[in-house]
Amino acid sequence: MTKPWLTRHWLRVVVHGVGMALLAWLAVVYAFGLAPLPERYVMLLSGTLGLIFLTASLACTPLRWAGFARAGQVRRALGLYAFAFISIHLAVYAVAENGLDAALILRDLDERRAMLIGAAAFVLLIPLAVTSTAGWQRRLGRRWRTLHRLVYAAAVLSVWHYLWLDRDILTTPILYALIVGALLAVRFARRVWPARGGQAG
Ligand code: HEM
Repeated sequence: MTKPWLTRHWLRVVVHGVGMALLAWLAVVYAFGLAPLPERYVMLLSGTLGLIFLTASLACTPLRWAGFARAGQVRRALGLYAFAFISIHLAVYAVAENGLDAALILRDLDERRAMLIGAAAFVLLIPLAVTSTAGWQRRLGRRWRTLHRLVYAAAVLSVWHYLWLDRDILTTPILYALIVGALLAVRFARRVWPARGGQAG
């Protein structure tokens, strides 16, 4: 007998529920000015959420290897929510904070290295978001996997962006760096020493 739908898909429901609720929260704070500096609040929170969802999407495959098979069901959704949060982060930065002034934004990218690194991370995520559908996965075949390895570079650049923001306290960015580093190390170890009877994913 097949298990009820909710028993099979509860993790998808949790991820979409949390993702949608957070997107709604950002929209409400921005629209109704619910924070002392709503634009800055939305910009910082969306950057943090983007990094959290990106890191969570990287954790799905190692979790699957560790026996939590359901983690594989939500990798794409986590990646797409990460892209949505980071797009909001960039949009608030460009529109609300810099009035869409190209000269101002280019000067900032030139003067603050962290901004350039963040922009590079965002550029790498664009082809991943565009080709995230099953149709693109079919069309690209084996090249899809190769292309989607860009997510590791994007995660490293994201952490680097955070580390270079010139904050007094570096505890949180260092924590992200350690988590992303550990997830990449697991991947690397699996490539070098593939599990017996398993396949490096
Ligand atoms: C994958 C791409 C990116 C990720 C994951 C990301 C993530 C983050 C995180 C976690 C923070 C710190 C939030 C906090 O302290 O609460 C941050 C701050 C910031 N990010 Fe990004 N970011 C990305 C791309 C960008 C881009 C493309 C820009 C603009 C060019 C940008 C501009 C900023 C700015 C202006 C800040 C605040 C810096 C300050 O406090 O002075 N980010 N970002």
